[in-house]
Amino acid sequence: MATPQDPRAAFTLGVCYYPEHWPRDRWPGYARRMRELGLTYVRIAEFAWSRMEPRHGEWDWGWLDDAIETLAAENLKVVLCTPTATPPAWLIRAHPEILPVDAEGRTRNFGSRKHYDHASPVYRAHSSRITEAIAARYGEHPAVVGWQTDNEFGCHSTTRSYGPASRDAFRVWLAERYGTTEALNEAWGNAFWSQEYGDFSEIDPPNLTVTDPNPSHVLDFARFASDTVATFQEEQVAILRRLSPGRWVTHNFMMHFGEFDHYRAAECLDFATWDSYPLGQVERFATSEVEKLRWARTGQPDLISFNHDLYRGLFAGGNRGFWVMEQGAGQVNWAPSNPLPARGAVALWTAQARAHGADVVSYFRWRAATVAQELMHSGLLRHDETLDRGGEEVAALEIVGLPNEPVRAPVALLHDYESLWAYDEQPHSAGADYWGQLMLFYSVLRALGVDVDVRHPEHDITGYRLVVAPALQLVGEERAHRLTELARTTPLVVGPRTAYRTPTGRVHEDGQPGPLRGLLGLSMRNFDGLRPGLTVRVGAHEVVTWAESYALRGGEATHTYDNGPLVGEPAVVRHGAATTIGAWSPTLITEVFTGLLAEAGVPTTPLLDGVRVARRGGMETWLNFNETPVTLPDGSTLGPVSFEQQRT
Ligand code: GAL
Repeated sequence: MATPQDPRAAFTLGVCYYPEHWPRDRWPGYARRMRELGLTYVRIAEFAWSRMEPRHGEWDWGWLDDAIETLAAENLKVVLCTPTATPPAWLIRAHPEILPVDAEGRTRNFGSRKHYDHASPVYRAHSSRITEAIAARYGEHPAVVGWQTDNEFGCHSTTRSYGPASRDAFRVWLAERYGTTEALNEAWGNAFWSQEYGDFSEIDPPNLTVTDPNPSHVLDFARFASDTVATFQEEQVAILRRLSPGRWVTHNFMMHFGEFDHYRAAECLDFATWDSYPLGQVERFATSEVEKLRWARTGQPDLISFNHDLYRGLFAGGNRGFWVMEQGAGQVNWAPSNPLPARGAVALWTAQARAHGADVVSYFRWRAATVAQELMHSGLLRHDETLDRGGEEVAALEIVGLPNEPVRAPVALLHDYESLWAYDEQPHSAGADYWGQLMLFYSVLRALGVDVDVRHPEHDITGYRLVVAPALQLVGEERAHRLTELARTTPLVVGPRTAYRTPTGRVHEDGQPGPLRGLLGLSMRNFDGLRPGLTVRVGAHEVVTWAESYALRGGEATHTYDNGPLVGEPAVVRHGAATTIGAWSPTLITEVFTGLLAEAGVPTTPLLDGVRVARRGGMETWLNFNETPVTLPDGSTLGPVSFEQQRT
């Protein structure tokens, strides 16, 4: 989708920059140094509303005109943002109803960012107004090659707001979806605990209930909030398309962020971008203290690459190029502890992103902030404007200019946000969650050296050698039909809790896996939510967190439980092209995949811990996330925290 001004045929770099933080006399020197560092793109203005419009209707564009001209003078390309992540103080004073309300019922105040409810009609009007203003002024500026909407939708738990704006819009959304409260009561199972409604105006957001709210209520509120983020974005994108012809529009999504449906939100974009902070990510998402320590200076390779593989493929028709819009270039400020990255890590992250299909990697941020919330955060420049360690690695990178060829993975991993919402509302076992189950299967594939596309089950999933659905909890007739058709030509693997529920969150009346029973050749018998430390065995394999067993209905048990309450019952069932794995066990899943991939003709290479390989076009990139050298399968040595590219 490259435009004439913006041929992204070759891999390039960019940076996130805040000219409004520095005196104007610094700007020309910064622009010159950006060019000298080999940067091409500069993203600006996503938080600068109060500088553009200091008072309602009073515009000050002079500084932004100069900032853009200064960058253009060095031949840098500008990615301009709508500044709606930060409504200014005058707007909040005039319309406090814009502010979001948290699940505890507290209004979240002005004084940081993202302080708005996406459903607020007043805020929607102001969001369109500022988008029109900035797009009218710069939409056809020759240096402006593309747009980013807002900044990180949902950041700081802002997808769901529980105040009047969202409440009112939720009622309208429910009335449109169900038509009558009888239909809603049936879908949610409201006979349970006398939760039946007689009018849509009786329904509130699912917060502050005495004990857990009805999970179907929670599921629909998640859907509503997700749709609201998507339509908020669509309004901006429509304006940008009208006033900025020929430019692309994107949004910077977050890592492992599940509060809204990214597939739906991306429909109106040209391509996706995401923000990668590997060290903060490992602090937040690694599953144990041991893992957090193990990857504290490099990040965990699969946590990072999962997001590359996801954002590349958000679109119905398949992969597009993607960017890392914010690539951490040093330490962050927001994790409990913020270590310095190992030497080489910034270059390694950049090479990994490229190998997984990134067209551009853009670093956060140019110069470390000398004021306010992020003054402990690193940039390419230190506070004193000297080039920081990450900046030195960027200066030495030799991968700029490589062709941006497509990634073609042999395996698709199916993923959907609705299953995530249902799963995480009732995890049933400490340690079980949707991302954890997805990552279990993803990491096994990556550790076998296999490239993976992450895909939505309703998007194009043809042409793969193997399709894996680790956690599709919500399955109705249509989805079951699609999967059944797919399995005529493609081997399919499903994980625990597949088809546990209907699309409204009820359990299938004929038990699990509901409409997939014929395809999988089984029905579920029992599930065992294993507390931390409680394990069972399947042969030599230890099973943690979750174990489920099946009655055979045409399928054949390839593995059974060896102890515990499910002893002797099937843990893995094969039925023609379909395989069901019911036990949470990395080694068991590795064994099953090794066999299935061989059958499917997908070569595997068991990799050392911390070593990964990714293929893009005619190039294979080997990545070592260990802080010690490793020996690769071909006998060569790869140094600590480094990468190597080989033509295939
Ligand atoms: C991102 C955000 C940036 C900055 C950064 C710090 O989530 O988009 O504005 O706050 O984190 O790591």
